[in-house]
Amino acid sequence: MIPQNRSSEKKVNQDELKKQVAEAALEYVESGSIIGVGTGSTANHFIDSLAKIKGRIDGTVASSVVSAERLKSHGIPVMDLNQAGQLSLYVDGADETNEFLQLIKGGGGALTREKIVAAASDTFVCICDESKLVKVLGTFPLPVEVVPMAQSYVARELVRIGGRPELRQGFTTDNGNIILDVKGLEIMQARQLESQLNDIAGVVTVGIFANRPADVLLLGTAAGVDTRKVA
Ligand code: A5P
Repeated sequence: MIPQNRSSEKKVNQDELKKQVAEAALEYVESGSIIGVGTGSTANHFIDSLAKIKGRIDGTVASSVVSAERLKSHGIPVMDLNQAGQLSLYVDGADETNEFLQLIKGGGGALTREKIVAAASDTFVCICDESKLVKVLGTFPLPVEVVPMAQSYVARELVRIGGRPELRQGFTTDNGNIILDVKGLEIMQARQLESQLNDIAGVVTVGIFANRPADVLLLGTAAGVDTRKVA
């Protein structure tokens, strides 16, 4: 019984930290702008917070169908990126971040649209609880979105570089593709590995966000929000 209580207590605290950073991200929202919105439990808190100031923004671009639905349920307009053009701000969570604000993303499977919206945004604010900060990326299995017919070929290429790819069972991305989650990588050269994996035929997107890292990291800690930027 005791371990169960402790684990539920920890969960509540982690969720509180996610809420805290989601609220803090509102400070980056400019009146009259269109906001890029990410995917995941932390991004969900941001969506719920954004609902309180929805009258101040012109709309949003969502990085997944599920986030679009949550935004719409709050009465927040969702636009197509092609109509919205360049965005001033993108807010999203991450599965891991290092001190250079290079990220692993895609635990929720939305990595491709997340990378597109991040690329089309002037400022990427990443919101995370402190458990996501790591010295070296790669403990979290690296998500790679792959065109289904290339599954075996891409898996062999991932094994060749030392990874242990596993098919995410029963999951199809918003783009109709599969995800391989790659264990066993110690990602020391994140930018280089991102480019190398993106070059494998059949890879749609790799969940390393290093060539376009976050600009600002809002890290939820027991002592409050720790704001970090790369100099
Ligand atoms: C979604 O595909 C991911 O990139 C999420 O941003 C990431 O998994 C973080 O999710 P949580 O906020 O739920 O930890």
